Amino acid sequence: MKTTNLQRRKLLKYAAIGIAGAVTYPSWTQAAGEFSRVNKPSADFLPDVEIDLTMNTAEVAILKGEKTRVWKITGKVIKGASGVLDNNDGTYLAPTLRFKKGQKVRLILNNNLPAQSILHWHGLHVPANMDGNPMYAIDRGETYIYEFEILNRAGTYFYHAHTHSVTARQVYSGLAGLLIVSDDQEQALSLPSGDFDVPLVIQDRSFDGQNQLAYSAHMMQRMQGFLGDQILVNGRPDFVLPVATRAYRLRLVNGSNSRIYKLAWDDGTPLTVIGVDGGLLESPEQHAYMMLAPGERLELWMDFSQREIGSELNLRSLQFDAASHGGMGMMGGGMMGGHGRGMMEGGMMGGGMMSVSTLPSGSDYPLLKIRVTKKEQGNHTLPKTLTPITPLRIKDAANTNNPKTIALSMQHMSALLNGRSYKMDDIQPDEIIPVNSLQLIEFDNGFDGSGMHGMMMDMPHPMHLHGEQFQIVKREVSSRSGDSYATVSSGFIQNGWKDTVLVMPGEKVTILKPFNDFKGLFMYHCHNLEHEDMGMMRDFLIK
Ligand code: C2O
Ligand code: CU
Ligand code: CU
Repeated sequence: MKTTNLQRRKLLKYAAIGIAGAVTYPSWTQAAGEFSRVNKPSADFLPDVEIDLTMNTAEVAILKGEKTRVWKITGKVIKGASGVLDNNDGTYLAPTLRFKKGQKVRLILNNNLPAQSILHWHGLHVPANMDGNPMYAIDRGETYIYEFEILNRAGTYFYHAHTHSVTARQVYSGLAGLLIVSDDQEQALSLPSGDFDVPLVIQDRSFDGQNQLAYSAHMMQRMQGFLGDQILVNGRPDFVLPVATRAYRLRLVNGSNSRIYKLAWDDGTPLTVIGVDGGLLESPEQHAYMMLAPGERLELWMDFSQREIGSELNLRSLQFDAASHGGMGMMGGGMMGGHGRGMMEGGMMGGGMMSVSTLPSGSDYPLLKIRVTKKEQGNHTLPKTLTPITPLRIKDAANTNNPKTIALSMQHMSALLNGRSYKMDDIQPDEIIPVNSLQLIEFDNGFDGSGMHGMMMDMPHPMHLHGEQFQIVKREVSSRSGDSYATVSSGFIQNGWKDTVLVMPGEKVTILKPFNDFKGLFMYHCHNLEHEDMGMMRDFLIK
């Protein structure tokens, strides 16, 4: 494995560097176009699309008045149609990339930031060395070349920084963008396209008095995860989407560090869900509300044809309880004595007595406004069936009768997977998976309390696995989650391809995940980015 002294030296070198705004810029000089390549383009890879991406510091106007210092990725198309890239100029959002299934893409990533970084293609099935594992982080002045074929089906994917212990800060500073894949099957459905296919990246941010991004990493905030004071959509506050009287395809992405949304239209219209993380469902589903955790995506169909010009509609996040027992759960007969500190902190957070945001998690607030502004004769009917999905079968798993359990836990200021914290180069026997196998995996968030001791903090954990998309087999909830769970229970979809699944306190979620084609390290982690940085992340070694 390529985790070397070099890597450790880099980690130390950058350990003290904070986010945009808090940075004293080192005196490195880096002229444009003079990045040194850490890996080479391969001669036998003939790209259909080639894009140069540069990470840099920038200033964008987000609020009225002073501009905000952010970390911005800017792209340039070297080969391919101009439609493959939209830089989202004027916002901190990274460029939107649009690829087709089967295309070979080369992405040349240049780092001009005062910190090391690396990008990960969330949801894509790519070789291990193209997946943006933190061990591939590059220094300022260096270039990493990604080359891969788009194997994924059509869907709303995204990409973001994945740098050791600073992913949360780097994503918060702006290092995240959309990656949209289309394919023939999807195109044949003639869903709303162009201006009527609207990606909506939902994030939360806090600003200081000088309009600069505020991020603090004190223990309370890390345990709960960062919660900003303001909702931004596509990098803008008070977001309004003007629409015509016709059908739209809305692609929602939760690009927040830790905030979970309970999405609903404020006039009671049910949400018509047509897709999830890994693309379209087999058929549309209607839900009164949907949960959307960090890392998850949701595609909605919304028809405005019956609405009046000038009418408005809000997408809101509704009230829900994120924890059972008001935030604290006791498991496995743990002892109170000797855990006073953990209990105090957990209790304060769960009870909301020391909420770190003016917009507490699980409260009721608007996300964005839709305003009907023009008449249009669109003839769009929602297809009854979308794209076929082959169900994975438990009996085809390599471990049908022996599911791999991943226990999620937070206690004593740490967030752990099976009691372990993230370490590079630390593969344990139960983390080795044979290539081309299907695995039955269960995420246990205090469902089965046996084997857990002490004071546990109840928190939802959006669990994400790199590599191929998976399918959800079942959700099981322990009785202790009763009332709290009822506030979220109908906001989940079992169907479709997923790469991130929200596991509520007291819940166990079982999935079937294929590990095909590529050997090497593929991560699994909590997508609450503060939890991830605290160590709630591990690697699987596929071999
Ligand atoms: Cu979106 Cu490993 O992450
Ligand atoms: Cu990922
Ligand atoms: Cu978590």
